[in-house]
Amino acid sequence: MNKLVFRAFGGLDVLELQDAAIPAFGAGELLVRVRAAAINPADWKMREGQLKLLSGWRMPQGLGLEFSGVIEQVGPSVRSFAVGDEVFGAAKSCIADFVVAKEGQIAKKPPGVSFAAASTIPVVGATAASLFEKAAIGEGTTVLINGATGGIGTFATQLAVQRGAKVTAVVSERGLAMVKRWGVEHAVDYRKTSLSELGPSFDIVVELSDKLSFKEGRALLTPTGLFVASLPSATETPTGLINNLYSRQKYALMGMQANTEVLTRLAQDVAAGRVEVIIGQSFPLADFRAAYGQTAEGRFAGKVVFTLEES
Ligand SMILES: NC(=O)c1ccc[n+]([C@@H]2O[C@H](COP(=O)([O-])OP(=O)(O)OC[C@H]3O[C@@H](n4cnc5c(N)ncnc54)[C@H](OP(=O)(O)O)[C@@H]3O)[C@@H](O)[C@H]2O)c1
Repeated sequence: MNKLVFRAFGGLDVLELQDAAIPAFGAGELLVRVRAAAINPADWKMREGQLKLLSGWRMPQGLGLEFSGVIEQVGPSVRSFAVGDEVFGAAKSCIADFVVAKEGQIAKKPPGVSFAAASTIPVVGATAASLFEKAAIGEGTTVLINGATGGIGTFATQLAVQRGAKVTAVVSERGLAMVKRWGVEHAVDYRKTSLSELGPSFDIVVELSDKLSFKEGRALLTPTGLFVASLPSATETPTGLINNLYSRQKYALMGMQANTEVLTRLAQDVAAGRVEVIIGQSFPLADFRAAYGQTAEGRFAGKVVFTLEES
């Protein structure tokens, strides 16, 4: 089968489409024929060696964290899924013709949601879901979402608006119409407005851009506001957690929880039109270098997906 791998940490040139064996699976696991797999910033962070604690050092390494497809075989003790089910979920090395997934990390794909759209839900949707567990976002909560049309931002922004929050969405120019359509209170173009002009008035600041520090973010918060980071940082996370011991402004970290229950709920949101999924571009697997190259250049608004042949 085809499997996208990298053979060393580095740039686009370390990517390779490998002719690999179909992976073995065990109890509680399933073999899925992949129909679509979405790209995440973690893919190139892993390839570049920025996430070695997560990826490990062994080479070659597969790529891809979220997929959709059709169950080909089920392992012993799998109860909730059967051969032929259309599913989506989170699993490593899923940019391949087949992937092994854990029963608890997939969900059934609603018939009205395309394979491409379903493949974009697990990582960013489940991370956005964790935001609502960390932060009390409800009627009238003032929330600034920095990176509102990115993968996580797409879910976070629409779900926050639906909970009655007053959302200020920070986006580039191409995202302005999108976030207005989703019903945000304010849409701010980060190339035209400095965030320092907006605070200090937010109950919650959600940082998704890799650009806003905790220090900058807390200047936008009310005295009892919460800064929610999307990435752990060797310097900021300890500072944030120590800060939580003495300051009324708090720091929290999102964390993906892609379990069947969360995935099912997110897919229902998409199927019912409560969350609009934005697919910026689809690529065949063979165009992997163009897909990663153009995505890293920021050429597309929304998620970028690989779509694979039916058989
Ligand atoms: N904690 C976890 O479990 C977890 C899980 C998944 C992802 N993450 C991390 O969370 C972060 C966001 O992930 P994602 O998938 O949503 O990424 P993404 O799709 O690349 O979105 C990033 C967004 O940031 C915007 N942006 C770029 N520069 C900006 C600036 N100067 N000011 C404001 N916005 C700016 C981009 O807008 P334009 O493209 O329009 O410029 C884009 O919408 C990444 O660091 C990712 O690694 C964490």
